[in-house]
Amino acid sequence: MAEATSDQRPHTVDYLDGVVVLLDQTALPDQERYVRCDTWQRVASAIADLEVRGAPVIGVTAAFGLALAAKASTAVTPDGLRAELGEVAAALIATRPTAVNLAWAVEAVMAAAGATADTVDEVQKAVEACSRRLHAEDLAVCRAIGDAGAALLERMSDVITHCNAGALATVGYGTALGVVRSAHRVNPNLHVWVDETRPVLQGARLTAFELGRDGIDCTVIADGAAASVLAAGGVGAAVVGADRIAANGDVANKIGTYGLAVSCRHHGVPFYVAAPRSTIDVDTPDGAAIEIEQRPAAEVAEYGGRPITPFGARVFNPAFDVTPAELIDGIVTEVGVLRAPYGPAIVAAMAR
Ligand code: MRU
Repeated sequence: MAEATSDQRPHTVDYLDGVVVLLDQTALPDQERYVRCDTWQRVASAIADLEVRGAPVIGVTAAFGLALAAKASTAVTPDGLRAELGEVAAALIATRPTAVNLAWAVEAVMAAAGATADTVDEVQKAVEACSRRLHAEDLAVCRAIGDAGAALLERMSDVITHCNAGALATVGYGTALGVVRSAHRVNPNLHVWVDETRPVLQGARLTAFELGRDGIDCTVIADGAAASVLAAGGVGAAVVGADRIAANGDVANKIGTYGLAVSCRHHGVPFYVAAPRSTIDVDTPDGAAIEIEQRPAAEVAEYGGRPITPFGARVFNPAFDVTPAELIDGIVTEVGVLRAPYGPAIVAAMAR
């Protein structure tokens, strides 16, 4: 099967006739259904409840949430509207604290709202235009990431990934899976080992879904099987996404990423992170300073709505972990592959 074009792929997020339309990722792969958000509050709950998830696409979705808020506002002055939007912005950013793309996109829209607009109408137009620009840019950035990283996977038969850093986590194409897609164009025999990614199963449900759609061969494994797959040999590299990259190159990503990186280093398998520069947070010095989102206990204690732990069992459910920079062999961005030492490499990439 040929690679699906962006028009054939389900759209993760669109802003159509004043409504934010999201592919409901909680329903995949069983159902392809869409949620229609006509208030910013509905957008916020869609982000918090993982109907839309993945760092880049939640940023774009939050930007559209601000566009909805601006459109619905009854403010009579531009400053009044900006004050209202400031409150909405804070509420949207609070929905998912680790993924810095969310704050980055919201701040970009707020900057547009504050830039030149002299009337309420101008502020509304500036907010919508900025959110639409972020939507368009994300797709272009992901394609550039994919093409920048493809050479890293040259001549490999197998790669491994964790979570879903694909088209579903972005406006389209993906970051880690963008690299896989670009590599697959020249190496159609490439096979992907997909960690199921407990507890929300983004790998089993979402990565396997979109790779299958694109005809990219993949095999889902339990997270605990990754080490023995690496030990068996044949895996050329790991490639994963990121939710926040600190100034020193430490990377926060889906819980379990750190364990995969440790295992890769033990087995001599290169470990790559793919992310746009909007995931790099130069104001966060290192991984220890990254806030890790805690998710509801039910994600771990239940499966398919049924309890799988004894009543009252204590649960710890961090959504992300931090992989130290020294375990990372390269960070693939839209301006090329960054190599250690990451501090200066990040400064140079952000200046481009
Ligand atoms: O909790 P999620 O599903 O939003 O977590 C997503 C990840 O950890 C992704 O790897 C990351 O956001 C990068 S997506 C291109």
